[in-house]
Amino acid sequence: MKKVLLCLLSSLALAGAPVRGETVIADVFARQLTSLNGQWHVIVDPYDTGYFDYRHHPYDEAARISGGFALDHQPADKTELVEYNFDTSPTLKVPGDWNSQDDKLFYYEGSVWYRVKFDAPPTGPGRRRFVYFGAANYEADVYLNGKKLGRHLGGFTPFAYEITSLTSPKGNSLVVRVNNVRHAEGVPTVNTDWWNYGGLTRDVLLVDEPATFIANFLVRLKPGTTNTIEARVQLDGPDREQAVKVSFPSLHLAAEMTADRDGLAQAEIPAPNLALWSPEHPVLHDVEISAGADDVKDRVGLRTIATSGRDILLNGRKVFLRGVAIHEVNPLRGGRAWSEADARQLLGGAKELGCNFVRLAHYPHNEHMARLADEMGIMCWEEVPVYWTIEWTNADTLANAKKQLADLIARDQNRASVMVWSVANETPVSEPRTKFLKTLVDEARALDGTRLISAAMEVRTDPQDPLRKIVDDPFGEYTDLCSFNEYTGWYDGLPEKIDRIHWSIKYDKPVFISEFGGSAKQGFHADALTRFSEEFQADVYRRTLPMLEKIPGFSGCTPWILCDFRSPKRLLPGVQDGWNIKGLVSREGKKKLAFAVLKNFYTEKANQ
Ligand code: GCU
Repeated sequence: MKKVLLCLLSSLALAGAPVRGETVIADVFARQLTSLNGQWHVIVDPYDTGYFDYRHHPYDEAARISGGFALDHQPADKTELVEYNFDTSPTLKVPGDWNSQDDKLFYYEGSVWYRVKFDAPPTGPGRRRFVYFGAANYEADVYLNGKKLGRHLGGFTPFAYEITSLTSPKGNSLVVRVNNVRHAEGVPTVNTDWWNYGGLTRDVLLVDEPATFIANFLVRLKPGTTNTIEARVQLDGPDREQAVKVSFPSLHLAAEMTADRDGLAQAEIPAPNLALWSPEHPVLHDVEISAGADDVKDRVGLRTIATSGRDILLNGRKVFLRGVAIHEVNPLRGGRAWSEADARQLLGGAKELGCNFVRLAHYPHNEHMARLADEMGIMCWEEVPVYWTIEWTNADTLANAKKQLADLIARDQNRASVMVWSVANETPVSEPRTKFLKTLVDEARALDGTRLISAAMEVRTDPQDPLRKIVDDPFGEYTDLCSFNEYTGWYDGLPEKIDRIHWSIKYDKPVFISEFGGSAKQGFHADALTRFSEEFQADVYRRTLPMLEKIPGFSGCTPWILCDFRSPKRLLPGVQDGWNIKGLVSREGKKKLAFAVLKNFYTEKANQ
């Protein structure tokens, strides 16, 4: 596994330290863009013939690429031997996973080479150009006109490369080797209960910027206040020590600052009587950041989130998180979700359930989710795919996980809807594991100390008393929430057991149930003791919700899960057929009985 190099800018820097070659460009949809989305020619390369020579040496080992598909080479004449040709190769849609686009690629795990050609008319003196990827699962080697731009690891985070000096006005060849092979040392590792969709799964964009531009910015309430706005702006370019302005036109507020030699500018803006963001009032304020020839606009909500004893406080008031878990898939299309329309469909389903909160499991979803959640008034839990049995003692694995967390925070730190950074899911208790996760907690707090930090922890059963559930995971020491997944009535006993269990929870913190539920095949009706019937699933919900209400400090939950989703681990013929069917909504968009059970519970909760 290649070493991931991290170099932090100054300690007060904004989140998201660029690795070699990568550039952070936040708020990308507000930039001057050219979309490269569309049909890209692809070469499916199971033996990585385009990357390794017959001695299995990578062609891009040296600075000058010695061969392979990255060169996008056309034979000079009839005599030249070239055994690939993007122009005559099939195409796949970008954004999009390859698994749901071509039945032959449904189970495919390996390399697929993508190539698009684009013109790059000059953008004016001193201007710069970048190529930006919303995400590529899992590993992406990016080449432009036969030059290697870099390699990005991690299937769910954005990355960009500067191409200013590498483009020609016409016929640029952008080639990306995307490989989704699972690795034990990867993040996630080899075992997940979700489909390993491969490909260029999100937008690919050309971004044009002035020589010195606003790479990232942070706008939020100054910690501990509701009447002071804190702003930080990170410039990228030769002319860093320049004037920067942050303004809120509708609030008649603004601040002038001067960036330091690292290009970092910061200010505090007194802001009395601010309208704060909440699910009931998802107030967003227009903000404009300008520096030299660059200006960026965004819409941000301002709010505080904290815990006090066993309560979660939003803007200082106790809040109950009426949630549901969501995977980033479009159930009807059966592939990775990526668009605003996909996000609206998923969040619309959560709204219909009566939710004010969603858990975006188990990896960073596309940027549209949190942006739309800002507008729709839905709070979010965002997570990095430290899932099940990661290689806890592998330094590269830790660096990879830290990078994914930093990239997520850099992208979504201005989203008022994002309340929780989660650093893991159902990871087995051990000293190396807790040390690994603690490092991620420290990283998250260093990059953004204003949100709650948590993880989906494990529950254990008292060996002496099978009805006693114990939550004493040592990692709970470091989190703001005591959150855990609980599957009594499905993986542990039958629904009637739910009524009889009792809890021993070590931590005096808000208790959040990050998963519960059971499977049901939509349309299969039977008595409530028949597995996979809608009645069984509904019974699990009907019994679990009142049971949870009895737990002191119960502050919310995200039942597993809004929609059925594809999983390579769910293989019961005629029932699961490659789908995890714990959804409250089926793959056809049909509601199951449990949907109404949860909706009624949330309606009551909302009226309390
Ligand atoms: C686990 C896990 C999920 C999984 C779910 C299930 O708790 O976190 O990713 O899909 O349970 O078993 O359905």
